[in-house]
Amino acid sequence: MNIPFSRPYLPERSIAYANEVLRSRQLAGDLGYTKRCQSWLESRTGAPRALLTSSGTHSLELSALLAEIRPGDEVILPSFTFSSTANAFVLRGARICFVDIRPDTMNLDETRVEQAVNSKTRAIVPVHYGGVGCEMETLVEIARSKRLLLIEDAAQALLATYKGKALGTFGELGCLSFHETKNYTSGEGGALLVNSDDYLDRAEIIREKGTNRSQFFRGQVAKYSWLDVGSSFLVSDLNAALLYGQFEIAQEILKKRLDIWNFYREALTSLEETGRIGLPTVPSDCVHNGHVFYVKARDLEERSALLEFLRSRGIGACFHYVPLHSSAAGKKFGYFHGVDRHTTQESERLVRLPLFFELTPTEMTYVCDGILSFYEGRT
Ligand SMILES: Cc1ncc(COP(=O)(O)O)c(C=O)c1O
Repeated sequence: MNIPFSRPYLPERSIAYANEVLRSRQLAGDLGYTKRCQSWLESRTGAPRALLTSSGTHSLELSALLAEIRPGDEVILPSFTFSSTANAFVLRGARICFVDIRPDTMNLDETRVEQAVNSKTRAIVPVHYGGVGCEMETLVEIARSKRLLLIEDAAQALLATYKGKALGTFGELGCLSFHETKNYTSGEGGALLVNSDDYLDRAEIIREKGTNRSQFFRGQVAKYSWLDVGSSFLVSDLNAALLYGQFEIAQEILKKRLDIWNFYREALTSLEETGRIGLPTVPSDCVHNGHVFYVKARDLEERSALLEFLRSRGIGACFHYVPLHSSAAGKKFGYFHGVDRHTTQESERLVRLPLFFELTPTEMTYVCDGILSFYEGRT
C-alpha cells in the first residue's frame, strides 16, 4: 500500500466553478468567487472583514506592513513554526524573539511571554499549531497591558475555536493559509482577517498595490490613485472558485477530518497508556479542526527509526518544523528568550500521520497497524 501524507480534495463543484471562471474569462482578483469566499469567511469566523490573499505568507507580510514594523522592533513568536511566521517581520527589519512552547499543544507557552517583552517589543504572533488554539485569554491580556499588537498565525486554524470564538479573530489581525496541505485549499492562497477598524481601509490599499482601487470598484471614489506603500496580494478568481467549492461543503470536510483524527487517537491510545508514545492534547477551552494528527516517539533516535519503518511500509508519515532558532536564518535574525526546555526536544519527537479527506478506513487501519507493529516488543 502507498499512502501519501496529504492529498488536496477537489469536490466536483470546485471543478465546475473553476470551469465557469475559465469560460467567462473573468480571471483577475476580487471578482465573484473572491467576494463569495470573503463573505463566507466573515460569516463563519465573525471577523468584520476578510481579504483573500495569494498565500498565508502574504497575509503575514501584509500584517507586518499594516503593523508598521520597523528596524529595531522585536516580535515575539514560537520557534516551532514555519519560516514565513518570522520572515514576514524580518522583511520589515524586525528582530525575532523566540519563546518556548508548551509540550502538550506545541503552542507558544503563554506563561513565558510576559518575561520576554522589552522596550523594543511591538507584537506577539501566536501560532495555533494543528488548529489547536493557544491560550488566548492570557495572550490577549498581555498584549493589552503591554500595548502590543496581537497578530495570529492561524494558517492551520480555520473553523477551530477558543472559548467558542474563532481562532484568527482574537488579535487585531489573523492570517489564514489555503496552501494545498491545508483543510481547505486553492492550491496556493490565504486570507487576512481584519478584526480592528483601525486597519480596514489601509489593508485594502496595501493589498491593491498601494491604491484605493477597491473603493473605486465599489463606486465610492471617481478614480483611483497611488496612496500608500503596497504590493499585489490578490488571488486569481480561478483559485477562489476552487476554494469556494470546498467552503460550500466545509462542514462535511471538517467532520471527515475529525473522524480520522478520532480514529487515530482511539486506535493508538493503548500505546499512550503504556507510556510508549505521546498523543496530541486539546485543552478544554479549544475545539480543533483536525488539521494535524501526530504521535510523539521517545526521542530523535526512536523517531528516525519509526519514520523509516513507516516509510518502508509505504506510509507517508513525516516530521514537522525544525525549530527556527536553530537554523542559519534564525540565528542571524533572532534569539531565543530564556531556556529551550521543550521546543527542540518536543519537535524532535513528533511524527505527523497521513490525514486528508479521501483517506479510507482501510488506509487508516494500515497506518495504525504500522505504528502498533513498530512498538510491538519495545518497552
Ligand atoms: C504556521 C504556518 N504559518 C504560515 C504558513 C504559510 O502559509 P502559505 O504556505 O500559504 O504561504 C504555513 C503553511 O504553509 C504555516 O503552517
